[in-house]
Amino acid sequence: MCRVMFVGIILYICVRTKAENFPSLITSNASLAIIIDREYVGDEYENIKADIENYLTYAKRELLKHGGVNHYFYSWTAINVRRDLSAVLSIASCSDTWKLFRSAEDEKLLHMAISETDCPRLPSNKAITIPLIKKGEEMPQLILDLRSAGIYNWKSVVIIYDRTLDRDMTTRVIKSITQQSNLNIKATGISLIKLERNITKYHLNEIMSTIRTKTVGGNFLVIVSHQLVETIMEYAKSLNLVDIKNQWLYIICDSIYNNSDITSYKRLLREGDNVAFVYNTSITSENCRVGKKCHSEEVLEGFMKALDEAIQDEYDIASQVSDEEWEAIRPTKLERRNYLLDRIKKHLARHGTCDNCTFWRMSTGETWGKEYQLANYFKNSEIQSVIEILPVGTWRPSDGPSMNDELFLHVAHGFRGKTLPVVSFHNPPWQILKINESGEVTEYTGLVFDIIKELSNNLNFTFTVEVVNKTVIKNSSVGNNSLEITNIATNSIPTEFIDMIRNKSVAFGACAFTVTEDNKHLINFTSPISIQTYTFLVARPKELSRALLFISPFTGDTWLCLSAAIISMGPILYYIHRFSPVYEYKGISMKGGLSSVQNCIWYMYGALLQQGGMHLPYADSARIIVGSWWLVVLVVATTYCGNLVAFLTFPKIDQPITTIDELIGHKDTVTWSFRRGSFLDMQLKTSTERRFRTLYDDAVKEHNISNLIKQIENGKHVFIDWKMRLQYIMKKQYLETDRCNLALGLDEFFDEQLALIVAQDIPYLPTINAEIKKLHQVGLIQKWLQDYLPKKDRCWKNRHIIEVNNHTVNMDDMQGSFFVLFFGFLVSILLLLLEKLWHKHAVKKKEKIIQPFMS
Ligand SMILES: *[C@@H]1O[C@H](CO)[C@@H](O)[C@H](O)[C@H]1NC(C)=O
Ligand SMILES: *[C@@H]1O[C@H](CO)[C@@H](O)[C@H](O)[C@H]1NC(C)=O
Ligand SMILES: *[C@@H]1O[C@H](CO)[C@@H](O)[C@H](O)[C@H]1NC(C)=O
Ligand SMILES: *[C@@H]1O[C@H](CO)[C@@H](O)[C@H](O)[C@H]1NC(C)=O
Ligand SMILES: *[C@@H]1O[C@H](CO)[C@@H](O)[C@H](O)[C@H]1NC(C)=O
Ligand SMILES: *[C@@H]1O[C@H](CO)[C@@H](O)[C@H](O)[C@H]1NC(C)=O
Ligand SMILES: *[C@@H]1O[C@H](CO)[C@@H](O)[C@H](O)[C@H]1NC(C)=O
Ligand SMILES: *[C@@H]1O[C@H](CO)[C@@H](O)[C@H](O)[C@H]1NC(C)=O
Repeated sequence: MCRVMFVGIILYICVRTKAENFPSLITSNASLAIIIDREYVGDEYENIKADIENYLTYAKRELLKHGGVNHYFYSWTAINVRRDLSAVLSIASCSDTWKLFRSAEDEKLLHMAISETDCPRLPSNKAITIPLIKKGEEMPQLILDLRSAGIYNWKSVVIIYDRTLDRDMTTRVIKSITQQSNLNIKATGISLIKLERNITKYHLNEIMSTIRTKTVGGNFLVIVSHQLVETIMEYAKSLNLVDIKNQWLYIICDSIYNNSDITSYKRLLREGDNVAFVYNTSITSENCRVGKKCHSEEVLEGFMKALDEAIQDEYDIASQVSDEEWEAIRPTKLERRNYLLDRIKKHLARHGTCDNCTFWRMSTGETWGKEYQLANYFKNSEIQSVIEILPVGTWRPSDGPSMNDELFLHVAHGFRGKTLPVVSFHNPPWQILKINESGEVTEYTGLVFDIIKELSNNLNFTFTVEVVNKTVIKNSSVGNNSLEITNIATNSIPTEFIDMIRNKSVAFGACAFTVTEDNKHLINFTSPISIQTYTFLVARPKELSRALLFISPFTGDTWLCLSAAIISMGPILYYIHRFSPVYEYKGISMKGGLSSVQNCIWYMYGALLQQGGMHLPYADSARIIVGSWWLVVLVVATTYCGNLVAFLTFPKIDQPITTIDELIGHKDTVTWSFRRGSFLDMQLKTSTERRFRTLYDDAVKEHNISNLIKQIENGKHVFIDWKMRLQYIMKKQYLETDRCNLALGLDEFFDEQLALIVAQDIPYLPTINAEIKKLHQVGLIQKWLQDYLPKKDRCWKNRHIIEVNNHTVNMDDMQGSFFVLFFGFLVSILLLLLEKLWHKHAVKKKEKIIQPFMS
């Protein structure tokens, strides 16, 4: 009991002291450190300090109506930042500012820094940085700000500049581009091109034509007077230095520029360009306020007002809730800082007047996909009338760049969600269009649309499809079209298509066409999306009759030798048996069994069938003959049995046609054909290889397709086409008949490349090609195509191993032996008849001989 109370008291004390150390309201600990680095400001120190002190007195009285703030002065930056500080105002050199910021970073203070020019700004979510810039020398800071804010992100840059940038300023600009500051900006490699004072157009062209974007990169920073801008833009375009990959940033500083001057440059912009402008709209006026005093007062004013609002807010909330609740919901130090920072920034943006005369604007050309946004009747007017130059941001010394969009719109956002028209037609499996009952196309699938959907994701566009030849769809694809493939030749592009693409009614053709040299003169092809090979469709080789299966284990000459051996071994045995003196010597009679040649032959035959004769010769000589015959019999019989089993198991298949040479070899028995006007037709016509010439010359005119299939199944005809198309035919035939009567040749020849088509001057072709390459590399295109192809079925099995595992012997296999039995039966009947006849004849003869005896 006592113990519990003791612990309770200690806990209570702890909580109390903690609460006192961190008072809950902002007022009680708002304290401001003002650091004026004596080294940096020099003699001005006392003046600045007095000014600030005066201002603070004024501000506390006039601006801070609720609560108060303590302030402390320091004259060097190496201070120990106290925990209870809520804000710091520093006037110091760049490096000291950063050092101070680093040392105080963990304390989550609000840092307001007034520093020298060309200084990277402190992170904008933690601090406010105001560089003190001499009028007319703001360019290095501007470039540094753009870079450190990640507004452009270049690894290398070509700087083209003229006399507007003097030598001193050049050094500073280069430093701000290359400087590897403590921020996360990558180093930049630069190439410099200086344009002399009175440069002629000829020289300019010459200089610019030496630029190789492969070696120096495709990013250009042009800092020139406004007279040169147009010339450089023209030359850059004519030298193909402006395209969808390269980025051009023009910094125009020498004159007052307004938006209408900049928009006049749009006539030099073309589809696909990435060009941005940063231009000087500063004014010169008596009323321009600059300097440390102005900035420090302005930022303090912002701070005081923000603090006042914060305190008021907190009071309001705290007064409505209990102390405990307030403890739970009161803002943390971080939240307070963010609140104050946000307020001060807003104040500076709205009411900031220091250095406010220096003001730059940024604009950028919106060019991608503009050409296709026009309605048809505008097409003949100039494309420039659609290209726009959009204002995207501004820059001021006090608050740096403020952007409302990307500087390089298209590099960041591709086509920016524009809608591009494409043209297509129904041609599975490349383009599969589906229509509903009212004849509207409702669904676009197929390999080409899979690719285009992927492109549209990556390049940020949507598309509308203009469908030509709708009738084709109506006829074929209301129901299932997974198993169809049209016969539309892909190598001849309709002129309607070519016109639409060339006159830019559509951005590209969403259809796969064969890449041919002829068409390359009119339009350009993308990289191939698929490569189709040709092969031929033949009848599946038939199983041969199995009637003579029992003969097949041995070849003809083996059979011949075997019968010769039986026939010759009989007499040999007989004679050896006969001439052996053993019988005489032992006095054994030679009657019976082996006493005639005929009997010996039967004996040998019986032995061969392992039936064994009744008699065995008594003489050793004859026994050796019989013994060795048995050995032969053993070998022959075993071999025959083994082989017969094998032949029973493996069906005997006809010799198939698998290669072109075999096809040409069967010229007498089969005809062949292919689609006229196809890519294959052209290739064969121009081929110099003999077998292809023969293939072309001896082909027959095309048959109608259903008839064709019947002929192929009967083994009379062979059809040559894309392997893919033949697979479709096979699958269809299989589904209709449930038999695998068709097979593909093993030879594959003539790669036919299929690609999308685009206009010749379209700037996006390299990008599209890169995307297609990527899709190939990850195997997506292959997979998509597989999805449209017929699935494997049992007809795909290798033709040589059919039904091996599960063959039960049937009548087909056994018929041969029954035939033999039947044959034996016939022969024996015949012999019986002969014997009868012979007998009759013999009886008659006997009667004839006996008659005289009788008479
Ligand atoms: C920007 O324009 C003003 C007013 O014309 C001029 O005084 C200043 O020097 C210009 N800035 C640069 C960097 O040239
Ligand atoms: C610059 O200050 C003037 C007042 O001195 C103000 O009218 C103007 O809007 C300010 N410009 C900007 C961009 O804040
Ligand atoms: C596509 O463009 C729009 C419009 O500029 C942009 O808002 C969007 O972020 C872009 N999408 C991608 C993925 O870049
Ligand atoms: C066919 O599709 C079009 C466009 O999506 C739609 O307006 C129309 O109502 C559809 N017709 C039928 C019968 O579904
Ligand atoms: C479409 O295909 C499915 C199976 O793939 C089949 O069951 C159906 O009958 C087919 N419909 C038509 C109209 O052919
Ligand atoms: C482009 O060509 C197509 C097809 O020939 C035609 O219908 C269209 O009117 C043409 N457009 C222009 C602007 O010439
Ligand atoms: C487009 O085709 C033309 C003519 O064949 C060719 O000169 C040009 O290089 C092709 N364009 C591209 C980007 O490949
Ligand atoms: C073998 O054939 C029988 C009847 O023809 C069938 O039921 C069995 O599934 C087959 N076995 C194999 C492994 O194919």
